[in-house]
Amino acid sequence: MENKKIKIITENWSADKKNTLADYLEKGGFSSFKKMISKEVTSEDIIEELEESGLQGRGGSGFSLGKKWRAAYEYSKSAKKYSFPARSHAYFICNADESEPGTYKDRSILENNPYPVLEAIIIGSWILGAKEAFIYLNGGYKETASRLKNVINEIRKAGWLGKNIQGTDFSLRIKIFEGAGSYVCGEETALINSIEGKRGEPRLRPPYPVESGLFGRPTVVNNVETLVNVPFILEEGASKFRTLSKSEESFGTKIFLLNGPIKNLGLHEAPLGISINELIKEYGGGLEKDKKIKFAQVGGSGGSIVMPSDFDKPLGFGQDEIAVGSGAILLVEENVEIHKLISAWSHFFRRESCGQCVPCREGTYQLSLLAQKLKNGKLKEGELEKIKDIIFTMERASFCAFGSFAVKGWKGVVENLTNEIIE
Ligand SMILES: Cc1cc2nc3c(=O)[nH]c(=O)nc-3n(C[C@H](O)[C@H](O)[C@H](O)COP(=O)(O)O)c2cc1C
Ligand code: SF4
Repeated sequence: MENKKIKIITENWSADKKNTLADYLEKGGFSSFKKMISKEVTSEDIIEELEESGLQGRGGSGFSLGKKWRAAYEYSKSAKKYSFPARSHAYFICNADESEPGTYKDRSILENNPYPVLEAIIIGSWILGAKEAFIYLNGGYKETASRLKNVINEIRKAGWLGKNIQGTDFSLRIKIFEGAGSYVCGEETALINSIEGKRGEPRLRPPYPVESGLFGRPTVVNNVETLVNVPFILEEGASKFRTLSKSEESFGTKIFLLNGPIKNLGLHEAPLGISINELIKEYGGGLEKDKKIKFAQVGGSGGSIVMPSDFDKPLGFGQDEIAVGSGAILLVEENVEIHKLISAWSHFFRRESCGQCVPCREGTYQLSLLAQKLKNGKLKEGELEKIKDIIFTMERASFCAFGSFAVKGWKGVVENLTNEIIE
């Protein structure tokens, strides 16, 4: 397949290539932003190009970046100006919380090639009229935080950040906000609460952050991997970006994190629309000798269970595609003791539930009790009904998407491997 090894996110990632600001500028970095400053292109032009690209949010939801920026732009134009000019009129937030176990794509991007992410934040902030932007960073990423601080300083000294950027009247500060290790704080409204110094619990929506986000101002929240694509799209064009995938519903490439009995473990950039079988063969180097796969979990601990019969289906964000989520793919071996996996999921979600709403607070607790019981042998038929009830309730009545993430593993087992957990 012709596009297979096209890399736009992981280009030039290797220990011997330093990826400095000088390299980035030499390769045309900041040229889209320069075009905005020189009025060669307008905010409208940029938003239109991004809309046309079809770029979907890589934080899991797959929501169109162009639509989000358009909505925030419209709200920021109509929002009342602060009478105190030092306050930011709007905010731009890069979501680097990444608390999902086994997921480290955003950290890898920020450590290996932070410049396009920062350029995207600067472009987005210019469009919104934001004076302040945040990178909400996983609190465990200490090394990343210190590297990012150096990069932000480097960019500021080169005149791309700070006061009167490149001689214009646009000024911007980018702050790194280190989270305290809560999975729920990756949810955009909980994240906003956390920056405001409140409990990290999701807010009721609407209003959405594009209308009323951080400190009640129009706010864009985008994932690191979503943003890293922005300068590429603006330089190479929306139509080129759309051709990079193997899908009619999902566009561009995606970082996949492969885990399990394969030869090349870890991070691989591949076109969206690729199947699990293709990933294993073309990127993972094939399965280890004599290994058989029972199922794959796609999208981390909150991801869905995919049986081998579906391993040829495309991965992406479309209706007919397997939801790719964060891109973490765990290949679970045939001989796995299922109760150990169920126990790991249930313990994790029980611990991470913020406890704000009853279905999730009580549901994760009940599921953790059932997981505990499963350690001592299979469950009874009546308990299967109880599990189904909990899944039904948590999926429909939880206040935020955490509730449905927390039951996805259980749901997959109940639907496909009932006899492994029920007498
Ligand atoms: C429980 C929960 C955890 C989340 N964690 C993250 C996260 O770590 N990183 C992230 O980018 N998005 C996370 N999200 C999704 C965000 O709410 C939001 O949709 C995303 O940051 C928007 O960026 P995008 O449009 O670029 O994907 C999470 C959502 C939920 C419900
Ligand atoms: S679903 Fe869970 S994480 Fe989300 S608000 Fe309710 S208790 Fe909190």
